[in-house]
Amino acid sequence: MIKPLIAGNWKMNKTVSEAVAFVKQLRERLPAGLDREVVIAPPYTALPAVAGEARGTGIRVAAQNLHWEENGAFTGEVSAGMLADCGCEYVLVGHSERRTLFGETGEVIHRKIRAALSAGLKPIFCIGENLAERESDKTFSILEGQLKEGLKNLSFDDIRRTVIAYEPVWAIGTGRTASPEQAQEAHAFIRRVIEKQSDEKISGLLPILYGGSVHPGNVDSLMARPDVNGVLVGGASLDVESFARIIMFK
Ligand code: PGA
Repeated sequence: MIKPLIAGNWKMNKTVSEAVAFVKQLRERLPAGLDREVVIAPPYTALPAVAGEARGTGIRVAAQNLHWEENGAFTGEVSAGMLADCGCEYVLVGHSERRTLFGETGEVIHRKIRAALSAGLKPIFCIGENLAERESDKTFSILEGQLKEGLKNLSFDDIRRTVIAYEPVWAIGTGRTASPEQAQEAHAFIRRVIEKQSDEKISGLLPILYGGSVHPGNVDSLMARPDVNGVLVGGASLDVESFARIIMFK
């Protein structure tokens, strides 16, 4: 059994005080002994405060990005070790906004995954096809190419510590969600690719999240699919009521 993982990607939203207030309110809404992994990815500035507020609650903290070097002359960048030091357990890598708005290539993403793993962070590795690729039947080849490049030469142990997020680019922030069937089909394919790169045991335990316009009204049907092990939520994770409902999917 894979423990369901519900992650909120806040993107460039919330000040430190807003972030802390959110975690306080969320804590009150979650039952003790929750059987789900809850992860919040605030902006860099709020990481230490959110990690402090979340300590002892079962809420985990993720960063939204990192640099692949450990330190040095990289103005404006933050390393994996620095993120671990401020209480992060996870880090998003390869989000489509990083790929399309900031020019991140497959090679850069691969380096970031390696850097995260070396610092003991669990990468949440985002992959997904855009609309033109889906409409020209390239979804599977795109997903396979992104997975192979991102995870190339990783040890089985490293793959075991990785989380995959399937985020079709056409569904991110558009209000247009992949159907549960489309998500299941992509997730099952991803699991087969991972199995080829590792083994059945590792692929069988790998959490594969769906992301792209997840909200309280569609989370239950997505989570009902056998290969959907969690969700990565953007817009709907900014509101505490809506995020709490998503966490408590049925
Ligand atoms: P969305 O974003 O839920 O607002 O579509 C998802 C994401 O970018 O991870």
